[in-house]
Amino acid sequence: MKHPDRLFDEAESFIEQVHSELDIPGCAKRISEIRFEINATGTYNHLPHELEHGARMAWRNSNRCIGRLFWKSLMVRDCRGVQGTEGVVDALWSHLQNATNGGRILPMITVFAARRPDGSTPVRIWNKNLIRYACHPKEDGTVVGDPAQKEFTKVCLDMGWSGEGGSFDMLPLVLQLDGEAPTWHRIPREFVKEVGIEHPEFAWFKSLNLRWHAVPMISDMVLDVGGIEYPAAPFNGWYMLTEIGSRNLGDANRYDMLPVIAERMGLSMDRSDVFWKDKALIVLNEAVHHSFSQNGVTLTDHHSASEQFMKFIRNEESNGRKVTGDWSWLVPPMSGSALKVFHREYEDTVLSPNYHYSRDAWKED
Ligand code: ARG
Repeated sequence: MKHPDRLFDEAESFIEQVHSELDIPGCAKRISEIRFEINATGTYNHLPHELEHGARMAWRNSNRCIGRLFWKSLMVRDCRGVQGTEGVVDALWSHLQNATNGGRILPMITVFAARRPDGSTPVRIWNKNLIRYACHPKEDGTVVGDPAQKEFTKVCLDMGWSGEGGSFDMLPLVLQLDGEAPTWHRIPREFVKEVGIEHPEFAWFKSLNLRWHAVPMISDMVLDVGGIEYPAAPFNGWYMLTEIGSRNLGDANRYDMLPVIAERMGLSMDRSDVFWKDKALIVLNEAVHHSFSQNGVTLTDHHSASEQFMKFIRNEESNGRKVTGDWSWLVPPMSGSALKVFHREYEDTVLSPNYHYSRDAWKED
């Protein structure tokens, strides 16, 4: 439980920022209102515009995100009053549908009830990412699907879920209300847009049967605004190419497609061609880029994202704010030094509001 004095200090500094950034009057009055509310109840409620701007500021302060130029366009859905499993599930499906927007993806966050002063959590989503593919172990020790989901897949199976098998077997939503036993829910296919991956020149690429989902949605980070924590505040932007083309499908501890692609390309995977991984990586990224574009699904490439981030820095500086960042995350995992984001340093100070990591829900006591 947070000490009321500390909560008040965090609230005060947040409210001052909101009033100054949005240029709205009545700051002192609002702060004394909040002091009264905290004294009476141990917490306070954000007004809708405070929640909206707070969630946007939290994006602006996300040191690891290269996509922050668009922070003001975040659509904030206030679902603090939504109760019951059905209500939360419906709100999530409608988030998915609205954010997907037929492929023209809209950055969006749905904010459920805040953590209570006694520390209890009204809503908790167990999935780290709302859309992910299961990991099915095979007898020979290898796996089918996404190795990163090994633990969570087991959690789902132990709860009684069963999938269809295969490499892209969508995991269910796992939801916990008020510390009760979690429940799982199949995500309706019609709300999940997926893109089959083809290459513009290599016809064989299609037969690798690769696919990925359109909307990257983080569902287990805690939104912290003015000292109030929102443990269920799933949010999405659109993908940057390399998240899928280099990391999800390329990493050796994920789908590990580079050796498969290199083989199909006829590259020699030994020291006679030190560049075989680089070549395969480019082809894989070309395929993802081409396929998202063919399907009309928003996706940014790493060159555009880097340019946009530089613009974000200029914008912020012209508003008297210094951009904080985490270099090792900001620099994309391909062609780093060909991008401007590579060639400077960032102060990795954590500002508030922000999004924070939480412990794996199934490991909490
Ligand atoms: N890298 C994560 C994924 O592959 C998504 C992280 C957030 N990315 C984003 N473009 N907003 O799903």
